[in-house]
Amino acid sequence: MKVLLLAILGLSATAYAQEDAQFEVGKAKAKVCMTCHGEDGISTLDPYPNLRGQKMGYLISSLKDYKARERTSGLAILMQQQADSLTDQDIEDISYYFSQLGQDTQQ
Ligand code: HEC
Repeated sequence: MKVLLLAILGLSATAYAQEDAQFEVGKAKAKVCMTCHGEDGISTLDPYPNLRGQKMGYLISSLKDYKARERTSGLAILMQQQADSLTDQDIEDISYYFSQLGQDTQQ
């Protein structure tokens, strides 16, 4: 029983370390986004949305929509250009970062 418990604890520690690494990777990749969306994910200009604490799934689908030109209104052209330069992995890492920002466990 003790062995099993230790094994479970060990596994969750590994999972946590991996997620934390993704947070750091995402943060580095998100530097370019911060010009418009703010360093802490809260933008200072009205037309630019806040990303801090947004749901990961929503961030991913938005970025894929810009890339696929499914979102085209208003200032979407700015985001289409941004999304074009992102791989699927970049999108995942950056979305993870912004979704975790502002959550109590990560700040
Ligand atoms: C040049 C300024 C600029 C940069 C740089 C920029 N964005 Fe944006 N972003 C915008 C604007 C403007 C919008 C709103 C576009 C619209 O009306 O659809 C937006 C919208 C978004 C949305 C949709 C938010 C929502 O609530 O629907 C996401 C997600 C997003 N940006 C992520 C990113 C990421 C990730 C990066 C970095 C790779 C980035 N942006 C870089 C200006 C920028």
